[in-house]
Amino acid sequence: MSKNHMSGQIPSHIGSLLPNLQLLNMSRNSFHGSIPPSIGNMRGLTTLELSHNTLSGEIPVDLAAGCVSLSTLKLSNNSFHGKIFSTCLNMTNMNLLHLNNNHFVGTIPPSLFNNSGLQSLDIGDNHLSGRIPSQIGDTSKLSTLILCRNHFNGLVPFEICKLQFLHFLDLSYNSLSGPIPSCSNFTDLKFMHLENNLFSGFIPRALSSSSSMISLNIRHNYIDDVIPVWIGGLSRLRILLMKGNNLHGHIPNELCQLKNLSLLDLSYNNLFGSLPSCINNLTFGRSIFLDDFSVGEVSIPYFSYPLNVDTRDIYFYEEREELKEVEFITKRMENYYKGGILNYMSGIDVSCNQLTGEIPHEMGQLSGLHSMNLSHNQFAGPIPATFKNLSQIESLDLSHNKLNGTIPSELIELYFLSVFSVAYNNLSGRTPDKKNQFSTFNESSYEGNQLLCGPPLSKSCISTAPISEAPNEEDENEDNENIVSFYGSFAGSYLVFLIGTIGVIYFTSQRRAMCFLYVVDSWCAFRLYKLYGLFSCK
Ligand SMILES: *[C@@H]1O[C@H](CO)[C@@H](O)[C@H](O)[C@H]1NC(C)=O
Ligand SMILES: *[C@@H]1O[C@H](CO)[C@@H](O)[C@H](O)[C@H]1NC(C)=O
Ligand SMILES: *[C@@H]1O[C@H](CO)[C@@H](O)[C@H](O)[C@H]1NC(C)=O
Ligand SMILES: *[C@@H]1O[C@H](CO)[C@@H](O)[C@H](O)[C@H]1NC(C)=O
Ligand SMILES: *[C@@H]1O[C@H](CO)[C@@H](O)[C@H](O)[C@H]1NC(C)=O
Ligand SMILES: *[C@@H]1O[C@H](CO)[C@@H](O)[C@H](O)[C@H]1NC(C)=O
Repeated sequence: MSKNHMSGQIPSHIGSLLPNLQLLNMSRNSFHGSIPPSIGNMRGLTTLELSHNTLSGEIPVDLAAGCVSLSTLKLSNNSFHGKIFSTCLNMTNMNLLHLNNNHFVGTIPPSLFNNSGLQSLDIGDNHLSGRIPSQIGDTSKLSTLILCRNHFNGLVPFEICKLQFLHFLDLSYNSLSGPIPSCSNFTDLKFMHLENNLFSGFIPRALSSSSSMISLNIRHNYIDDVIPVWIGGLSRLRILLMKGNNLHGHIPNELCQLKNLSLLDLSYNNLFGSLPSCINNLTFGRSIFLDDFSVGEVSIPYFSYPLNVDTRDIYFYEEREELKEVEFITKRMENYYKGGILNYMSGIDVSCNQLTGEIPHEMGQLSGLHSMNLSHNQFAGPIPATFKNLSQIESLDLSHNKLNGTIPSELIELYFLSVFSVAYNNLSGRTPDKKNQFSTFNESSYEGNQLLCGPPLSKSCISTAPISEAPNEEDENEDNENIVSFYGSFAGSYLVFLIGTIGVIYFTSQRRAMCFLYVVDSWCAFRLYKLYGLFSCK
């Protein structure tokens, strides 16, 4: 009955009426009320999905007692409360247990892990607390473990390292402390999300064996380390987010080995030295790959997996509205680039460090980059003229550095630029012509540069201002001609721009172009993507 507009309560006698039912899927409706206890009578029930409704109350005792046959139980995105201990008392057959986005309280019962068959556990977004039980290591087949957005605290038990088939680990937004688990067994791990906890100490070297890693997020912790050189060995890495720790030392050249990296966030650390000039080795979206990132996880909207779940390669994110959320600051907004969107988003943020030296001109080769934030460092020297090649850039923030020289006038060729700041540097000379995107930037993009002149700044460039003569008739005529030719050339440029844009959209792969249009507003894009499955643009 899933994905309809049904409402009302689940009939109280459903379990007595349909005692032999094996699969009950009522997800994505508007059912309310509580689960009728009679469901516990369905002794052959293997799959029960009630997710995405407005159900509430506690899980009835009868279900908890009669759940032994269940292999899939999804109650996500409702308003259930009570303790998860009472969800199912004998989980012998449970493969997949998703209780995320509810109001469950209490601790994780160790007996939850008394089941070596469990492959997927998602109890994120609840009010659970206490420690992660060491028995977690007993669920040897676990491939997905999501405990995010709860109140878990204490150390992560080292037994977690026994989970050698783990693909997806999300412990983010808790109060976990101590070292990051140092597991050389995590060879299959693709996603490791530990952000917003109290982890401290080093980035464990053992993670160098996680050569399948696609996304590593340790933002907002207390990691006190250098960026390890072995990170260059995680060659499949697409997303590396380490903002808000105490990373120090240089950015190692080995980082440049991460050729497929498209999101890099090292902001709010204590990194010093220069940006490695080899940074142009990184892809930052120059080519678009789909296969890697859409292993049936997120990107296929109407993906449904077989009843006998083989989670080795299958995630179930379609069930979690939040999906796998990676937030990356761009355009002065915190946008959440979700799922498939990540295939099209690319950015580098090294803001708020102590980086010095010149901005490597090689960075101009990062033609797929959408967002660059080098602000609040001590970069000196000129803005590389090569930046005119950053043809996809939408957000460029070089503010609060020690840059000098002029602003390359070619930057006006960056047609997608919507946020631009070079404020608080030592730049001099003229501001770029108020053409194209640059007609939209105001004073704040340039302020704090003593020697900069020209609109939109109030300071005009005196030296180049024409010496005014007393007007005579000839001049007036000339003026009129000038105005005519001005409008003429304006209309001309506009037409050229319009035709150019249409041309680009038409002649590059049409699907790619379509994608771009939707990527412009990622949130909108995500919704469209969910609604119409538009992201099949391969
Ligand atoms: C759980 O159910 C299985 C299969 O019915 C049974 O063998 C086992 O003893 C039960 N475990 C507990 C703790 O009741
Ligand atoms: C774990 O499960 C086994 C078999 O179902 C059962 O005999 C045992 O009592 C359970 N242990 C705990 C701690 O629940
Ligand atoms: C790695 O996993 C295996 C199998 O689960 C386990 O026996 C071993 O203890 C684990 N290694 C570590 C360091 O935990
Ligand atoms: C980078 O991505 C491409 C496309 O997904 C893949 O073929 C390639 O193996 C990846 N590179 C590495 C080093 O994993
Ligand atoms: C239940 O329905 C939802 C929504 O249609 C679907 O995604 C899910 O795969 C279904 N579950 C099973 C086990 O068929
Ligand atoms: C760049 O980073 C700084 C510091 O993190 C932030 O304040 C600023 O808003 C960012 N710029 C853009 C354009 O996102």
